[in-house]
Amino acid sequence: MTLAVEVGRGAAETAGAARRPFDPARVRDEFPALAPHLHAPRLAYLDSAASAQKPRAVIDAVAGFYAGDYSNVHRGLHPVAAAADAAYEGARRRLAGFLGAAAPEEVVFVRGATEAINLVARSFLRPRLAAGDEVLVTELEHHANIVPWQMVAEEAGARVVAAPVDDRGDLDLAALARRLGPRTRMVAVTRVSNALGTVVPVAEVAALARSRGVPVLVDGAQAVAHEPVDVTALGCDFYVLSGHKMFAPTGIGVLWGRGELLAAMPPYQGGGGMIRSVSFDGTRFAPPPARFEAGTPHVAGAIGLAAAVDWLEGLDRPAAAAHEAALLADASRRLRELPGVALVGDPRRRVGVLSFTVAGVHPHDVGTVLAAEGVAVRAGHHCAQPLVERFGLTATTRASFAVYNLAEDVDQLVAGVRRAIEVLG
Ligand code: ALA
Repeated sequence: MTLAVEVGRGAAETAGAARRPFDPARVRDEFPALAPHLHAPRLAYLDSAASAQKPRAVIDAVAGFYAGDYSNVHRGLHPVAAAADAAYEGARRRLAGFLGAAAPEEVVFVRGATEAINLVARSFLRPRLAAGDEVLVTELEHHANIVPWQMVAEEAGARVVAAPVDDRGDLDLAALARRLGPRTRMVAVTRVSNALGTVVPVAEVAALARSRGVPVLVDGAQAVAHEPVDVTALGCDFYVLSGHKMFAPTGIGVLWGRGELLAAMPPYQGGGGMIRSVSFDGTRFAPPPARFEAGTPHVAGAIGLAAAVDWLEGLDRPAAAAHEAALLADASRRLRELPGVALVGDPRRRVGVLSFTVAGVHPHDVGTVLAAEGVAVRAGHHCAQPLVERFGLTATTRASFAVYNLAEDVDQLVAGVRRAIEVLG
């Protein structure tokens, strides 16, 4: 059996698999890109919110597919095609298990969270939207959870409104409840803010929205690398994720949707693979998920994503989460002690992300000094311009953490910020 077929085996087959004891240094060693290299003797990679590094298991799964039973899917009769089909559909089952979906058919492979939200905006919401209607988002959203809704709202004469955050960077749930009105047609909310790390109580948001009969999309892009997810327990209607932020390849992600909603949605794009039959008189479309997967899909990406799920679920996740939380707490405390450094927001629950400013120094300059010290961070508005402006800023420096970070990464970050203050402050 090739590697390509082995990955993405059903959740049931892996559910009982023994988890390896959590050892952060050994976890880091599984990531070839974090080994000493050209750019830095020791890379403190604190940019995982932008994109996470890939463990050897994922790299090997993708390489194994290309070097082994490589073929297109759903089109061939030969044995190699059958193996590729099995791997691709196995990956779908694996993702369904990972998300707690009712059926694999509820898992649509897309390019990432951005494409998933565009798909829902266009295929689900647009036909339901009329002049005067509203889409309710929050001030915490990434542009990917604002702009697609604005595009369809503008066409319909509808508008996108945002529930506010408080000064700590927490969502104001009471204000969100007040914003839910008779014209609200959709609620779209992130689980974790990519700019502040705020954890949003999305189950409560979903319960509120559903009590008014309003469908809910949850953007899980920044959450899935840090916490398990169960879409059924969450009570949302759509959940989206990007593979590359959870140790999988770029260009692959998932739209999970309730089966009955997906079944009622028109296709997003037309082409091969999404039809039942085509003639010049018209086309009959395939049921989901094929209906939403026009063209050759990113087969290697799906296989890599399933391998990332295998890898992630092979960790002792409570221990991994505790490790990440300890790093974040240590970094917060030590950055706050530096002169002129202010953390942006102070949410009651935060994962993965710390945004900060240094008095008198532009965030890009902080990022440049950090880069010279071997610390990779992101500086700017983080594609969350309304949120950053809500805090009276145009940019922040953002350090974002993943399970492979170590105490040494925090040491390097703090030393680098101290250096930026000395040089530029
Ligand atoms: N959405 C990614 C980030 O937050 C790119 O950096």
